[in-house]
Amino acid sequence: MFSALLLAWYDQNGRKLPFRGTADPYRVWVSEIMLQQTRTETVGAYYTRFLARFPDVFALAEAEEEDVLKCWEGLGYYSRARNLHRAAKIIVSRHGGVFPADEAALRALPGVGAYTAAAVASIAFGLPCPAVDGNLTRVFSRFHGVREDVGIPSVRKKLAALAAEDMPPVRCGDFNQALMDLGATVCTPGTPDCDRCPLRLLCDACRAGDADALPVKAAADPPREIGVTVALITYQDTVWMRQRTETLLQGLWVYHLTENAGNMMDAEKAMGALGIRAVPRGKMGEARHVFTHRIWNMTVYHYEAESAACREGRFVTLSEMNALPVPTAMRAAKKWAAELLEGKRNER
Ligand code: ADE
Repeated sequence: MFSALLLAWYDQNGRKLPFRGTADPYRVWVSEIMLQQTRTETVGAYYTRFLARFPDVFALAEAEEEDVLKCWEGLGYYSRARNLHRAAKIIVSRHGGVFPADEAALRALPGVGAYTAAAVASIAFGLPCPAVDGNLTRVFSRFHGVREDVGIPSVRKKLAALAAEDMPPVRCGDFNQALMDLGATVCTPGTPDCDRCPLRLLCDACRAGDADALPVKAAADPPREIGVTVALITYQDTVWMRQRTETLLQGLWVYHLTENAGNMMDAEKAMGALGIRAVPRGKMGEARHVFTHRIWNMTVYHYEAESAACREGRFVTLSEMNALPVPTAMRAAKKWAAELLEGKRNER
């Protein structure tokens, strides 16, 4: 009953999204990786561009990592792009370019967790695998009246089992996507629109009147605030950048960053350790970037180097800078760096 009502609703009300209407595993996989941490409205344009640049798994496997990161620029959570690239190489080298058509083999690919494996298995291969995400958790905890903390593994297992019971034998991909759409448009977080819900007559929370209190979730730790000194170190028409090796933003290019820096002295010490001799030319401004677990409160300064000598990283021109993958966290700093290199803005 559940799936019949849900699928009938989906046929009338499902969202028309650019990445839908295909069962090509490569396309489904790319879209599901993009959708892991990015809103559906944002994914559309990136998805189209990514597929134009890397039309199949062979094209992606053969690409340079930096080109993949450049195509991902602005989407965030860049480990997704690096894993996508690694997985493409594995699919080509170990599976002859053919996607494995089972959930366990999909899960073995880098970047593919339980949710993504189930989404791809159901949408591309029609397999009856519930894709347990925030939407499914919300819809099922309300529908079946699960009033325990959904952060507890046994509670999640229970929700997955309930979803597996309600999964129809056909249209498994549509079933998962219908749950996503219902969760995104009707059974929304906070106060849902129960009047428009196809499941309202059978829904436990609707009957009990506590849908707005479900699912039960323990409060998450707030992200940690960190002060970061950003130095735009210029030398003639170039600015110093380095490719990050740290887990956060690995592979992306950034300016001189000193985390947990309370003052410019720390930044200058770090520059000295890199063999960079530079003098401060003033403050450019401030910027803030919110990651999942931390917040960077950035103060951006201009420094002028005495030479292009440095032990690490390199001085790049404006056009080189624009061709490199630079994270959104550097958006303000990049704009100021461009102004400095274009000579539009000098010392402050
Ligand atoms: N979020 C993750 N996968 C999705 C999909 N296939 N459709 C809509 N939203 C999604």
